[in-house]
Amino acid sequence: MNFIIFIFLFISSCQCFIPKFNRQYTKNFYQKDYSIHLNNEHIFLKNITGFYGLIGPNYDFHNVTSLMDLFTGDGVVQGVFFNKGNITFHNHIIQTEKLLFEQKHGKNKHNLFTLALSMLKIFPVPSGTANTALHQFQNQTLALYETDYPYVLHLDMDKFNISTIGKQFINKISSISAHSKFNEQTIDTIHYNILKKEVQFLTLDKKYNLIDKIKIKTKYMPVIHDFINTEKYVIFADCPLQINFKSIFNSKFPIHLNNKLPTFIHIINKQTKQIETFSMDQGIYIFHFSHFEENENSYIIQAPQLDEVDFSNLVFKPKLREININRKNKYVLNKKYSELENIHMDFPVKINSTHTILSIVDKEVGFTGFTICENMKITKKILFENTVIIGEPQVINISNTSYIISFTEKNNQNYISFVNLKTFSQNEILIPMSIINGFHSMIVQT
Ligand SMILES: [Fe+2]
Repeated sequence: MNFIIFIFLFISSCQCFIPKFNRQYTKNFYQKDYSIHLNNEHIFLKNITGFYGLIGPNYDFHNVTSLMDLFTGDGVVQGVFFNKGNITFHNHIIQTEKLLFEQKHGKNKHNLFTLALSMLKIFPVPSGTANTALHQFQNQTLALYETDYPYVLHLDMDKFNISTIGKQFINKISSISAHSKFNEQTIDTIHYNILKKEVQFLTLDKKYNLIDKIKIKTKYMPVIHDFINTEKYVIFADCPLQINFKSIFNSKFPIHLNNKLPTFIHIINKQTKQIETFSMDQGIYIFHFSHFEENENSYIIQAPQLDEVDFSNLVFKPKLREININRKNKYVLNKKYSELENIHMDFPVKINSTHTILSIVDKEVGFTGFTICENMKITKKILFENTVIIGEPQVINISNTSYIISFTEKNNQNYISFVNLKTFSQNEILIPMSIINGFHSMIVQT
């Protein structure tokens, strides 16, 4: 993504030469942090202490026109603290080096000279917006972005407050994945290099020291958003993204998915460091994986797949499919299910070892509901009336009952909402201010 964002900023800074490509200026939604006590009348929430947080760009999604606008927006966390029935909404604009630099020197200073300086690490990384994912590791909260170091945040569970501590430097590595996998004592992550066409699988210890590295050459320009990580394997999709500079003159972003080329699946055995590469004859892009399993005969990879990717617009039509790799003859089958080809969904969140929640995507409206899937079968569809889900949900356990928790919007009002996964009843609490959409979320229960 670093190279893509470099091209994006390059084009943005060349608007005078290429007048057709015209990125609009988007105003930040939040100008400051707010804390608001919410009026809670739900007794079941007296049995929970913790935090639900959603991270995303500090833009009203209604005002942006492309995926690239969203990827380059400054990171903001919107969260709700729970303390035995007391509930507080808090938002925090992450104080990234980029943001602090712009506060001091002004916005829109990006040009080819400042971009070159940022590549030399004299200026802050222009794409370091810390806006993609939240994770907990070693009692710290991390805000991650695909082409930067993590930012450490402090969640004050007593004062219901979020603050930025700062960037976590990692020696010998320039960035880690926003979808890094956090174990108790280690981090499994990837770093990709587009010019070398190489992905590095990295293991870090709890102090962020590099303890293992496996290099994998890719067939295409690697922009790897997420990967599968098991005890034995790391797996990622090498998708046919291509650069077409002619697109700039048609007002289009010059990177797209060529779905006529094959997709390659790399399966790396972490113990033997052997790499197996399999070719699938359809060009697809995968943002997130929902399930992986292996048996004697097959590797099975379930994931929402995109047949089209264009960073110039907001078209997002992921379809849940199953890639079945025959281990003996290497044949790869991309299994499509008619029920799943007619519905768009992404943001898989595991409920348990067998069931996953996915958010239903409606291009015109946003996320309009959830499906619960057991492998490739929808076992339950949860649709709200006149309600849009804001960002990735989580599953929270309250008194031995699981609930889906998410922010929602209904009739221009915002809520923190709960769906009981036994009864499917819905409860909500009004947030008396407007909030914005986001990407990934996190739950902390204490
Ligand atoms: Fe993601």
